Amino acid sequence: MHILWRGDTLQRLRLVSGLILFTFAATHFINHALGLISVDWMHVVQQWRWVVTRSWPGTIVLLAALLTHASLGLYKLAGRATLRLPRWELVQIALGISIPFLLLPHIVNTRIAHVFFNVNDIYVYELAKLWPASALTQSLLLLIVWVHGCMGIHFWMRLYPPYRRVFPLLLTLAVLIPLASLGGFVVAGSNVAAAIEIPSVLDNLKVLTRWPNEAAGETLAWLRNLVRIEFAAVLAVVGGCLAWTYFARLAGPKVTVAYTSGPTVRVPQGPTLLEISRMSRVPHASVCGGRARCSTCRVRIERGSFDLPPPTFPEVVTLGSIGAPPNVRLACQIRPEHYLIVTRLLKSDTTGPEGAAIEEADSAGVEKTLAVMFVDLRDFTRLAEKRLPFDVVYVLNEFFGVVGAAITEHGGWIDKFLGDGLLAVFGQRDGIESGCRQALRTARDIDLALDHINAKLEAELGRPLAVGIGLDAGPLLLGRIGYGESVDFTVIGNPVNVASRLEALTKERDVQIILSRQVARQAEWEPPAEMTMHVDVRGVAEPLEVVQVGRGRELPAEVLAKRESEAETEKPAAWTAGFWGRR
Ligand code: FES
Repeated sequence: MHILWRGDTLQRLRLVSGLILFTFAATHFINHALGLISVDWMHVVQQWRWVVTRSWPGTIVLLAALLTHASLGLYKLAGRATLRLPRWELVQIALGISIPFLLLPHIVNTRIAHVFFNVNDIYVYELAKLWPASALTQSLLLLIVWVHGCMGIHFWMRLYPPYRRVFPLLLTLAVLIPLASLGGFVVAGSNVAAAIEIPSVLDNLKVLTRWPNEAAGETLAWLRNLVRIEFAAVLAVVGGCLAWTYFARLAGPKVTVAYTSGPTVRVPQGPTLLEISRMSRVPHASVCGGRARCSTCRVRIERGSFDLPPPTFPEVVTLGSIGAPPNVRLACQIRPEHYLIVTRLLKSDTTGPEGAAIEEADSAGVEKTLAVMFVDLRDFTRLAEKRLPFDVVYVLNEFFGVVGAAITEHGGWIDKFLGDGLLAVFGQRDGIESGCRQALRTARDIDLALDHINAKLEAELGRPLAVGIGLDAGPLLLGRIGYGESVDFTVIGNPVNVASRLEALTKERDVQIILSRQVARQAEWEPPAEMTMHVDVRGVAEPLEVVQVGRGRELPAEVLAKRESEAETEKPAAWTAGFWGRR
C-alpha cells in the first residue's frame, strides 16, 4: 500500500475531507487574488467556481467534507491521553479549533444569506459588507485556514521521498497564493468601499445584490452569534471528554513500562505507548504524528509481546513495509495493559518537543548525582577461546538478556555494553537514594538469574558463569558525546572509574559485589564492620571505604524491600504534568 494512503479508515476519511476543503480554499483564495486586476474578473471566475460548488452534488460534497473533517478532528482531540505533542501538532490543533469561530459566521453571511434570504452574495456584496470593519478578521481567517491546510499537507507528504524534489516549488506557491489573495482582497475591498461612498452606487448595489432588509440583517446577526456559541458548546463537550477520560484513567489500573535505555514508568492503562512516552518525557520518534504511516515510532518488545493484542490492519501494513520481525510493534498503535519492556529502535525526532528539549540540554551536558554499576563476566575470554563465535554470541546474549531485564525492571538504564560486560546507571528519574537501592536490588536479581542461566546452559558452558559487580555513586556528567553519526548519550565522571575498579577488585577479593560506602549510605544500609574495608583505588587520593558482598542474594532484604520507583510514578502530579505537557 502506498505510504500516503496508510492508516485506518477514519484517518483516510479525515485526509480526503481535508484535501477537498483545501482544494476549495485554494481556488477561493486564487479567486480573491484576481482583485489585483479588477472586481469584474473576480466575478467571472466566481461564476465558474459556483457551477461546481453551488451545484447540489458540489454542495453535498463540501458540506460532508466540512462536517467529516471537523468532527473527526474533534473526536481525535477528545480521545487524546496527553497534550504533550510535537509543536507542529499543537499549532495545527490550535489553528483548527479557531477556524470555525471565524468561518461559520462567514458562511452565514454568504451561503446561508443566499439560500434563506435570496441574497446575491457575489464579491461586490461581500466586499461592501466586510471592508474595512471586518477586513482584519477576514484576513486572519484566510491565513489560519491556509497555514492549517499547508501544515497538514506538508506533514502528510513529507513521508513520500519525491515530495522533497517539489518542495521548493510548493513552498513558493504556499507563500505566493495567500499574499496575492490578501493583495486582491485589499485592492478590491478599498475600490468597492470608495465606490459605495456615492449614494446612488450603493443604492444600485443593494438592488443588484438583493441586500438583506433590516429584519433579515438582524436574523443573520443572530445566526452568526448562534453558530459561534454552538461551536463553543461543542468544544466544551470535547473538554469534558478529555477531563472525564483523564480522571477515569487516574482512578483506573496502572501499567509499568520499562525502556531498555531508561526510564521505567508507571502510568494509567489506556494511552498508546507513544502517548506514554510523551507523558513521561521519553524522547520518541513519530514523524507521522501517530497515524501508523511512518513506522518511526517502532519498538522492539523485549518482554510482554504475548500480552499485547495482535496488530491491526494499518499496523500490519506499515510493519510489513519494513519487513519488521514479529516482536517489533508500532508504539502509536499499541496500548499496554501488562508489564512491558521495550527498546526504541529509532532516534527521537528532534522536531518533537521532548526530543528537542533534551537535545538542547544534552549538547551542553547535565550534571546529576547517580549510581553506577559495572557488571562483568568472569573469565569469559578463556571460555570464549574454546568456542565458536556463534556460541559466544549466543551465551553473551543470554547473559545480557537477563541482566538487561533486571536493570530496566528496577528503573536503571544501560549506558553501554563493553565486550563481556556493561555499564548501567540508576537514579536518573527517582533520585540518588532510590537509585542506590535499585542498583542493589538489580545486583541481587543478577545473582539469582545466574542460577537460571547456568542451569539452562550447563551442557554448553561446562562450568558455571560468574560475574563481578562494582558499584559507586556520585556526580556524573550526562551528555551526548561523540562525533557525527556516532554521537551517543552517555555518562562520564569519577564514579564510573571507581565502579570499574571495584568490579576488577571483586575477582581479587573473590566476592561477587563490591560497593562504595557511599552507595550503602545512600541506600540507608549500615553494613556490619566485617563486610567493610579500605582499599586504594587508582585515581582516588584517599583510601576508599567499600563494602564487599559474597553473593547478591546475601544483601539485606529490608534494604531492598521498598519499591520507590513505582511509588514515585504513581503520584497523580506526574500524570497531571504528562497530560498538560507542563515543563
Ligand atoms: S507509525 Fe508514525 S508515529 Fe507511529
